Amino acid sequence: MQLHVADHPLIRHKVTVLRDKNTKSPTFRLLVDELVTLLAYEATRQVRVAEREVETPLTSTVGTVIADPPPIIVPILRAGLGMLDGMTRLLPSAEVGFLGLKRDEETLEAVTYANRLPEDLTGRQVFLIDPMLATGGSLIMAIDYVLERGATDVTCVCLLAAPEGIENVRVAVGERADVSVVVAQVDERLNEQGYIVPGLGDAGDRLYGVIGD
Ligand code: PRP
Ligand code: URA
Repeated sequence: MQLHVADHPLIRHKVTVLRDKNTKSPTFRLLVDELVTLLAYEATRQVRVAEREVETPLTSTVGTVIADPPPIIVPILRAGLGMLDGMTRLLPSAEVGFLGLKRDEETLEAVTYANRLPEDLTGRQVFLIDPMLATGGSLIMAIDYVLERGATDVTCVCLLAAPEGIENVRVAVGERADVSVVVAQVDERLNEQGYIVPGLGDAGDRLYGVIGD
């Protein structure tokens, strides 16, 4: 597994405002969207491309286009939905699958409650999007899910990650596939409740409000 920390002053600024407990949902959603656009630029560096001839007004030349089949973007519901528009803006030809995972806050284990993904992902390039990589349980479940369906090339785009979660993902992936994790910032640690510290709290609640279990 490869880790990329997309360090940039604009990213640091936007993450700081996200962390602020006084930032309300409308601004929070806007910032998540802006951050994803910046992260997507880094995350798509290895997107598969093909050559295509193009006629300019002056001559013909060979250019580059996103290859077929197009990549598939998978937001991990709920919080990952806040990152979807930003990703599809940069990759408009991508297909979108959905995976609903909920972390059990007692056991910290992820539970699947929804899945709308192609059964066969053989040869597909997959972008998993979720703002928070805490224990890594949710991301590991999502990675396993797409690898079992044949994906071999997986890029995870997250806003904040805990070192413990990154290590758990690294161990779980092993040598099975080419997996990259692109994050805006790596935080200090997890607390006893499995929250990222200093973090930004519950990303789903901050995006969409508290709905409880
Ligand atoms: C959050 C977050 C991740 C998960 C991270 O989702 O969006 O999916 O927790 O924690 P982990 O790394 O320890 O698995 P949550 O389960 O709270 O659901 P939500 O997006 O519906 O709020
Ligand atoms: N999920 C969140 O939304 N935030 C955390 O800090 C950990 C898990």
